[in-house]
Amino acid sequence: MSIYADEMRQTAQAMVAPGKGILAMDESNATCNKRFAKLGIPTTEERRRAYRELILTTPNLSEFISGAILYDETIRQSSQAGVPFTQVMQNAGMIVGIKVDTGAKDLAACPGEKITEGLDGLRERIAEYYQMGARFAKWRAVITIGEPIPSPTCIETNAHALARYAALCQEGGLVPIVEPEVLIDGNHSIERCYDVTDQTLQAVFTQLRLQKVAFDQMILKPSMVISGLECSVQATVDQVAEMTIQVLRNNVPASVPGIAFLSGGQSNQRSTEHLNTMNAKYGALCPWRVTFSYARAIQQPALEHWAGNDANIPAAQQLLYHRAKLNGAASLGKYDPAMEKQTVLV
Ligand code: 13P
Repeated sequence: MSIYADEMRQTAQAMVAPGKGILAMDESNATCNKRFAKLGIPTTEERRRAYRELILTTPNLSEFISGAILYDETIRQSSQAGVPFTQVMQNAGMIVGIKVDTGAKDLAACPGEKITEGLDGLRERIAEYYQMGARFAKWRAVITIGEPIPSPTCIETNAHALARYAALCQEGGLVPIVEPEVLIDGNHSIERCYDVTDQTLQAVFTQLRLQKVAFDQMILKPSMVISGLECSVQATVDQVAEMTIQVLRNNVPASVPGIAFLSGGQSNQRSTEHLNTMNAKYGALCPWRVTFSYARAIQQPALEHWAGNDANIPAAQQLLYHRAKLNGAASLGKYDPAMEKQTVLV
């Protein structure tokens, strides 16, 4: 058992405390730059720093955000006033998280499929991040649906890597967020998404068990079971909620403290509605907390409003706070679409 077991159990519970979720702001420089470029924001280290400061200094964000996942560049940066972001977060009552994978690369011999890298030197990087104040980590695996993929090779190799990462995290005191993302891209049906998610979760939990990962000291970050973006039949909110909870109940041990979804390219409002219905209709069936760990579906309105202009920071922060609040309500099954309109002075 890890010497950090008690601390990790407490951290994992705090990450999914009632009414709260985890903010993903761990875009790599390449991804962050792509989003900046679309809005005409200079793709410089300073602008990335300014944007992350905007997020982390949003007043009262910790009412709905338990912790945030940072990128390696961000965890080493400071506010304009010279306070390290790790300190800014601790002062605001948010737990520091860190993305530790180094990205999804082409999987050899498997056209169109990816394998996530980053295991080399991971033990040492975890030790450094723990020293810097991080208490949880994230690793994202990517599963693509197509014809005839995903292959068993892709599912097994990614599940194996996720479990190796998770075991190393627990050895070093970081709660692992285990993120197997089944991509929304494609014209597949919701039933096909269900089957692929089912196979993926089965493989992931088999590997986690084999590699002695403690289920009560981790968080699962899955994608929802959902129709492919280009599918002509789009499932209803109720279908998504029902099938997502079903696949999770079939695969996720009750000792896992929480499930925190990614948004994966869903619209802001849809990802909130899906989470809300899962909790409102099926919450009583769930042994784990069901919440969010969105990036785009929380950040997008704030990023677009800021657009690189610091005069827009206060209004952008209000937009961020608002989306966090709506998703906090959804994590309790208490969201109502009418709340969308209760914005904020922009
Ligand atoms: P999205 O919510 O934008 O899918 O991002 C979540 C995440 O952390 C992706 O790895």
